[in-house]
Amino acid sequence: MGLLGEGINEIIATTRKNAAPIGIIVKGDSARMVLFHGTHTIENIRKDGWVVANIIHDPVIYVKTAFDDLPDDYFISENAGDMEVQRLKDASAWIAFKAEIERESGGAAIVRLTQVAEKILDEGIYPVNRGFNSIIEATVHGTRYIMNHDPRLRELIDHHASLVRKCGGSREREALGLLLDYIKK
Ligand SMILES: Cc1cc2nc3c(=O)[nH]c(=O)nc-3n(C[C@H](O)[C@H](O)[C@H](O)COP(=O)(O)O)c2cc1C
Repeated sequence: MGLLGEGINEIIATTRKNAAPIGIIVKGDSARMVLFHGTHTIENIRKDGWVVANIIHDPVIYVKTAFDDLPDDYFISENAGDMEVQRLKDASAWIAFKAEIERESGGAAIVRLTQVAEKILDEGIYPVNRGFNSIIEATVHGTRYIMNHDPRLRELIDHHASLVRKCGGSREREALGLLLDYIKK
């Protein structure tokens, strides 16, 4: 499956002038997304039929795109097969997919992805950092916490926040500050 690995790949999905962290589920040769109704990502896929997976190592981008919109100048257009798509300018790699809604249930749509292009832009090596990983975990919990303020989710966020403070670098600590502000609103 090209650049993606088996299991769930937590990438930044770009659609037309929109970005959000989304999991791409890879099983054997197939790739799918499960998208909650009401997200811009599913609405744009419905209209345009494409999505780009951006591989990026900046924790701040994960937090910002989970809760907010990015300015237009974070995006750049690319040709992928017969489509014009948009990716993040600072992505280390990007993979463009045709996206078709396979099934819809009450709250979510299952989207089948067919790869049309991929490109590696940065060959950098990124050692495992628990602070970065904890930003991803805390952000997942944060996107749910803002909907229900479940105290159990708050405990999980606080646990990951302490790992970010212990193991992260300045960019992880900046991302944590933003995350804590977003979930306060
Ligand atoms: C690491 C991570 C993975 C996520 N995976 C998904 C996912 O697979 N499907 C989904 O609908 N939302 C997922 N979310 C939540 C969305 O990113 C969040 O609802 C976002 O606000 C949607 O943005 P949009 O409205 O611009 O599409 C994930 C969040 C994080 C932090």
